[in-house]
Amino acid sequence: MNRREFIGWVGVGSLASSLPVVIAACSQTTSQQSTTPSRPDGFQTVGTVAELNKNGQILNEKTAAGKVLVIEDPSDTNKIIAVNPTCTHAGCTVGWQKDQNAFVCPCHGSKYTSDGKVKNGPADKPLATYTAKVEGNEVLVKEI
Ligand code: FES
Repeated sequence: MNRREFIGWVGVGSLASSLPVVIAACSQTTSQQSTTPSRPDGFQTVGTVAELNKNGQILNEKTAAGKVLVIEDPSDTNKIIAVNPTCTHAGCTVGWQKDQNAFVCPCHGSKYTSDGKVKNGPADKPLATYTAKVEGNEVLVKEI
């Protein structure tokens, strides 16, 4: 083995031995995410009415219930709708597209109605939904 081959093998060995440390560091970051605490009635705050009015949707990925996406009900702007935006096809995060009146998945194009039902595949199961309401300036959701 010449010097160049030896250095190459040392490099591969160093990379392989540090891989578990990198994986552990990534896992640690994920597990340290904070969650929004639930109230005694099961509701938890996911954002504010001001955010909802400004952006047309609120995405909160740190709730105790998991990811939550809240929109104004397109058929009644006095109501709100909350879904888990995890696409049921392969797990990408859908977004609300007001012009298409649908939750649209950026990965393979599945579309869901505002209440989470499948409009276009490849997804074949609906989005999970939450009970949602507004209290004061807070947007609250609760697992169904
Ligand atoms: S992950 Fe959403 S359509 Fe495939």
